[in-house]
Amino acid sequence: MLAELPEPDSVARAHSEKLRVHIRECVESAGGWISFADYMDLALYAPGLGYYSAGAAKFGEAGDFVTAPEISPLFSQCVAGQCARVLEELGGGDILELGAGSGAMAADMLLELERLGRLPGRYLVLETSADLRARQEAFIRERAGPLSQYVEWLDTGPGEPIRGVLVANEVADAIPVNCFLLDGADTCEIGVVWINGEPRLEARPAGSELVKALEPVRALPGLDAVAGYQSEISLRLPAWLHSVSGWLETGMALLFDYGFSRPEYYLAERSSGTLRCYYRHRAHDDPLFWPGLQDITAWVDFSLLAESARDADMDVLGYTTQAQFLLAAGLDEIVGRKVVQDEKLQAEMAHGMRQLIMPGEMGESIKVLALGKGKVTVPEGMTGRDMRTSL
Ligand SMILES: C[S@@+](CC[C@H](N)C(=O)[O-])C[C@H]1O[C@@H](n2cnc3c(N)ncnc32)[C@H](O)[C@@H]1O
Repeated sequence: MLAELPEPDSVARAHSEKLRVHIRECVESAGGWISFADYMDLALYAPGLGYYSAGAAKFGEAGDFVTAPEISPLFSQCVAGQCARVLEELGGGDILELGAGSGAMAADMLLELERLGRLPGRYLVLETSADLRARQEAFIRERAGPLSQYVEWLDTGPGEPIRGVLVANEVADAIPVNCFLLDGADTCEIGVVWINGEPRLEARPAGSELVKALEPVRALPGLDAVAGYQSEISLRLPAWLHSVSGWLETGMALLFDYGFSRPEYYLAERSSGTLRCYYRHRAHDDPLFWPGLQDITAWVDFSLLAESARDADMDVLGYTTQAQFLLAAGLDEIVGRKVVQDEKLQAEMAHGMRQLIMPGEMGESIKVLALGKGKVTVPEGMTGRDMRTSL
């Protein structure tokens, strides 16, 4: 499989080599082993070098993968409709988007919110990558013109918690995960070592934090019968959710991601986890391949997200699939509104809609979790198929 991946050019290879050297130094200064979560953090976010911190195109056709806001503006238009209702209920407020990618979601949300007469006070974007922020600024100015004045970029969470809506599309699946191996009563954590000048994955006995976090996983049926059950869990997800809760004074958070509830995630037959790497629209499973040039991602345990949300004082308003969310949020109505004369545009819209809702595409694999802080009404998008009992 790796042999089929396109060879990076010399500039990209030199960039990746710099990051490899940096990671090797981190491994050495940590005593010869770092957890996979620390490796993933460096590979994606090492300042100036990591995949998301450095300059190459990532999103869309020229990049490595495509996300829902890139596929079609219909996605952001549906989300904007749900945000508009919350802003209306609160008598106004702000929107905070985490990890804004190319800026497509921000631009299309603002255009739709303007159409609905429900522009937010501010559209805040929390973006840690200086490169992505510059790309977003240019993109939003071009697509949304004067509406770009609503956008303010943040390097960290907002100084004061906001009233309004927080949105995050495919952010939780970019948070580093800890990889583990269960073998009978033994629990090991997989990390990265350097052997003969090359990085390698190596398992070591897991520490108490990981063993404790895995208790609900170990309690699931069938896993103890699998010899060498490998998967992943993010020890950082609960703290991230606490931050999300702290950034919201009153309102709703809408989190979209590839993922499952815990019992679906840790099936006995899914014994090698969900970790995937994306490079030039090819998926493979070697996270050590050209660090800095590829995305590394793992599906999200939505049960863990929901539990962390409740611990952080948020209500779980709904959990459903992307398809059910978009349909209940009025996708048909939005499509019906656009009487497009141009056949090519019409075909593009139909193709985009299919990719967003078909089960074999993103429709079933991406889930939506709606979280409330304070008194907020359950958004319409969550009323189509309430899957909260599966969490
Ligand atoms: C797969 S991309 C998704 C980008 C965009 N939301 C989209 O749908 O196209 C993941 C994004 O999450 C961002 N990210 C990861 N961890 C984050 C965090 N803790 N806070 C905010 N953004 C984060 C990354 O920098 C990256 O921009």
